[in-house]
Formats: sequence, structure tokens, C-alpha cells
Amino acid sequence: MRSIFEEPNPRVTDIFERWEQGYQVSRVLQVGVEVGVFPALSGSPASAGDLAQRLGLDPEGARKLCAALTAMGLLEHDGHAYRNTELAEAHLVPGRPLYRGDGIEHGGDLYFRWSGLGNLVREGRWGDTPAHPAPGDAGATRRFILAMHNYSVAGRAQAVALAADLDGARRLLDLGGGPGTYSIALCQRFPGLEATVRDLAHTHPYAREVIESYGMQDRVRLEAGSWDDEDWGRDYDAVLMSNVLHGRSELNQAKVRRAHAALRAGGQFLVHDFVVNPDGRGPLSAALFDFNVAAYRFDDLVADLRAAGFTDVRGVPLTDSPQTLVVCRKPGT
Ligand SMILES: C[S@@+](CC[C@H](N)C(=O)[O-])C[C@H]1O[C@@H](n2cnc3c(N)ncnc32)[C@H](O)[C@@H]1O
Repeated sequence: MRSIFEEPNPRVTDIFERWEQGYQVSRVLQVGVEVGVFPALSGSPASAGDLAQRLGLDPEGARKLCAALTAMGLLEHDGHAYRNTELAEAHLVPGRPLYRGDGIEHGGDLYFRWSGLGNLVREGRWGDTPAHPAPGDAGATRRFILAMHNYSVAGRAQAVALAADLDGARRLLDLGGGPGTYSIALCQRFPGLEATVRDLAHTHPYAREVIESYGMQDRVRLEAGSWDDEDWGRDYDAVLMSNVLHGRSELNQAKVRRAHAALRAGGQFLVHDFVVNPDGRGPLSAALFDFNVAAYRFDDLVADLRAAGFTDVRGVPLTDSPQTLVVCRKPGT
């Protein structure tokens, strides 16, 4: 007889329980944000029944949702009513500087892609996945652009600005700059710098919201344009592509060449993205992002930068970031 009592390994059980059903907490959080639990409870605690009435929810649904959000540490109950915990109040109530709700809702928008992952792995056809956000979907575009701000303002933009060396630079081109958060951080770190955030015009209303909320509209300017345009302007001291060079492709190689053309001699090109280790495996953040869209391998990125004429290509360490910063220079002075 083999004893069943010799089998349990709590550490392994814990790891697999987190991975097996990790999407469950993710969905509970996404739905909590989507239906508006946290702003509804901000400054106004309520029973699950009252919350259901306020938000037009099924009372049983509200009860289960509040119970799960409490177990996740996002709500607390004092015997009478639910209220937001400090964590939820700081990050899940719209208008807070470190609000995460757009990022969480954007995660909900991407959920359909991940639920089809098995088919993609079996059959390929990666190119068939519809573009996200779909052209013309203003709600999804808003969530997407503000999600980029949520992610970057929580530390990634500051990490890039602190790692960058743009002393003396005056003109930065932030290609596909989205909400402009990286430009804001770089301009605040380097007082002589002004940035042009070049992105599709339909993203501008959301970028304007972000840039004006930091009072940076005089130094962070929006420019409507596509990376498909041949000419992005000339004589920039620096070009930034943050989360814009997702994986090796002809389009991304063309973007690298256009960055080179937009720079003055001696100008710097900063690439910030999920980048896969030279051995093609990990880190986990980049391996996962490779499913979501695609991710460059470090060596391929370096090779494409050199092929476009850049020199002094090097990875720059970032503190507490799941992403990689690669910096290089257009030759000359
Ligand atoms: C993943 S977001 C990155 C935003 C920002 N750079 C960051 O790191 O937070 C990609 C950006 O590329 C922009 N984009 C998509 N297609 C584009 C195009 N054809 N030309 C210029 N920008 C484009 C999107 O609107 C979005 O702002």
C-alpha cells in the first residue's frame, strides 16, 4: 500500500493553486472595477444589498462580489457595512494619482485573447487576432491609453527618467507616446527638455487629460501622426519608443530606421519594452507579453539597432521594472 499521507507538499500546492486558477481573482477585480464598487463605497459605506441597489446589481451577485473583494483585502466589513480598504481607496477610486482602474479594465478587455490561447498555441494564426483596441472603439481606446498611464505612473516612467542621461538634450520625440507619461517624467527630470508626443489623433483627448493634470502642456506637446509616415521630423536630440517595438518585424525595423533619420548626429535613441533574454527564455513578464502581442529578443533588438546605424548599444539597468531599457546613439556629434 502506498500512503496518501506522504504526498502533500504545501509549497507546491500553493504554487499550483495560484497558477491553476489565477484568472479567478483577476476576473473578480476586473468586475469589481467595471461595475463601480470602489467609487460607490468611497466615503459612503454600504451593505451588499444597498450597494446592489446603488449600482443596479443582482443582490446575490453583490454579496458574493463584496465577500471575494473583502477576502482579497480590497474591502472591509465592520459588522454593518462594507467600506474600501486603504489600498482600494488609493488605487481603485477614479481621480487618485495612482489609480489602477483603467489598467484593470484594459486587462478585462484583453481577457478574450487569453481565453483563446489554447487555439493559438495549437493552430498558430497569430496574425488573425483582432487589433486591440478596435478602430473606432472610443471606450476601449480611452481604457487602453489611460491604462498605459496607470502602469507607467506607478514607477516605470520614473525608473526610465532616472536611468536616462539626457543632460543637455532639448528636443525629445516620444513616438507612440500614448498618454505622454514618459515625456512628463523625462521633462520633469531634465528641465531643459521639451517633448513631442507623436501618436494617432484619436488618443489625444486622453493624453491631454494626463499632461494637463501635471501642468506640463507647455513642454509636452501632442503631434498627430503615424509611425507609418516616412518623415517624423528632424534634428531631435533624443527619440523614445516605449512599448512601441513589440517584437522583430519589418515594421519595427522600419521604425528603428525612421528614429535614426529623426535624430541629429550624436542623438540618443531610447527603447523601453518587454525584452526577452538572449537565450529566448524569460523573464516571465516578457514571455507573457510575447503572447499578448510580441516581444523582441535582446540580441535581435541589438542587431536591428546596429543595422540601422546606431552605435554604443547597451542595456541600462532599471530599478523595480519588469521592462528593459536599451540606449544607443546615432554616430557623430
Ligand atoms: C502600448 S502603447 C505605449 C504608450 C506609451 N509609449 C507607454 O509606454 O506607455 C502603444 C502606443 O502606440 C500608439 N500607436 C498605435 N498605432 C500607432 C501608429 N500607427 N502610429 C503612432 N502611434 C501608434 C498607440 O496609440 C499607443 O499610444
